[in-house]
Amino acid sequence: PVPLDQLSRLRFSAATAAFQIEGARTEDGRGTSIWDTFVDTPERVIDGSTADPSADSYHRWREDVALAADLGLDRYRFSISWVRVQPDGRGGANSLGLDYYSRLVDDLLEAGVTPFPTLYHWDLPTTLEADGGWLARDTAFRFAEYTQLVADRLGDRVEHWYTLNEPAMTTLQGYAVGELAPGRFLLFDALPTVHHQLLAHGLATDVLRRAGAESVGLTNNHTHVLAADDSPECAAAVHAYDLLHNRIYADPVLLGAYPDLTALGSPELPIEDGDLALIAQRPDFYGINFYNPTTIGPPPADSPIPFDLLPTPGVPVTGFGEDWPIMPETLTALLLDFDRRYGEALPPMIIGENGASFPEPETAGRVEDADRISYLDGHLRAVAAAMADGARVDEYTVWSLIDNFEWADGYTQRFGLAHVDFTTGERTPKASYDWYRALIAQARA
Ligand code: FCB
Repeated sequence: PVPLDQLSRLRFSAATAAFQIEGARTEDGRGTSIWDTFVDTPERVIDGSTADPSADSYHRWREDVALAADLGLDRYRFSISWVRVQPDGRGGANSLGLDYYSRLVDDLLEAGVTPFPTLYHWDLPTTLEADGGWLARDTAFRFAEYTQLVADRLGDRVEHWYTLNEPAMTTLQGYAVGELAPGRFLLFDALPTVHHQLLAHGLATDVLRRAGAESVGLTNNHTHVLAADDSPECAAAVHAYDLLHNRIYADPVLLGAYPDLTALGSPELPIEDGDLALIAQRPDFYGINFYNPTTIGPPPADSPIPFDLLPTPGVPVTGFGEDWPIMPETLTALLLDFDRRYGEALPPMIIGENGASFPEPETAGRVEDADRISYLDGHLRAVAAAMADGARVDEYTVWSLIDNFEWADGYTQRFGLAHVDFTTGERTPKASYDWYRALIAQARA
């Protein structure tokens, strides 16, 4: 069993994201985001689905709140859709869009669950993408403006905020290799998006603190990098990948400087005076979304990138197959690496997402998801082990509260603690929901 003495020190949460659960893409004055463009482009999403209605949370949010409350969650991590609030990515607020989040916040508070929203979970207004998206410095300032609109409306009741979700995935999968929106293939020319996202985080942190926020941070996708062999070439490739996936985001936020990027060909980042001070305002927490380790080998001859992504041999995998190997001990290693690398500069860590998909039935009904329980149990133990070794982790978040639209994988990957029938919208708690509920109750006892 998980050592409960460590777990009693954690808060427990579960997460969702606006575009993945809400549906209602054309209601109440919502504008369009890069994800609308992506799902409306043939061949982009594996099953041709469009995220509408998905779990239909725009209409069924009360059921989500009830699921969160019955679980005994301390907080619920949801995201706010920029284009519901500010349909064109500029200008005044669309009050109908804000009304939705205001109701959600009220209902959560009434149910005893603390709202913990994310301001940006990948749904950039298409108008801003047309002007360069995250390649453009102006996008960071537009994000701060949008943040102000949200804070003006929700800041009287919301005290804890995530600015950005996974800037690493936006840069790598969105702009470098094009697997996620906006689907651009720029390889290393995508790197300015790192700086502009971090600048957006810094500017928004300022806005939220001025509005009286109690805690502000961001959450990034991080991976523990494994070497495929013990050659010096492999060590160099591991170093390059660690820079690209982990350190280029975490170092500026936590240390106020980018790491030495020689191994990535010394790219020029569009840094202006004062940017790093904004980016490095000490966050109140540092969010880590963790799913799997990454095995890296030396690059094949003539490769445009300084590493090779390889399968991790000999371990079980999730519904994504060999792309998502299951190795909970690598989460312990990652948390301890963060603790050692950043030391005093590291605020309490939050596991902002952790979870897994497995093949599951589409129609409503009880799902006995033993694989998910074992994945979550293993990773919670891994967190407890890191805490026992001195890492400070304050919160653990399951991805996801409910089944939802898994980006380019459409409805083919289910991550929920509760099953969703995407035809009827019906929610049914899975065995993992009951397991998590019992675990939270035990940790509190
Ligand atoms: C993360 C995303 C989240 C979800 C999980 C499975 O990278 O932040 O929205 O899709 O992966």
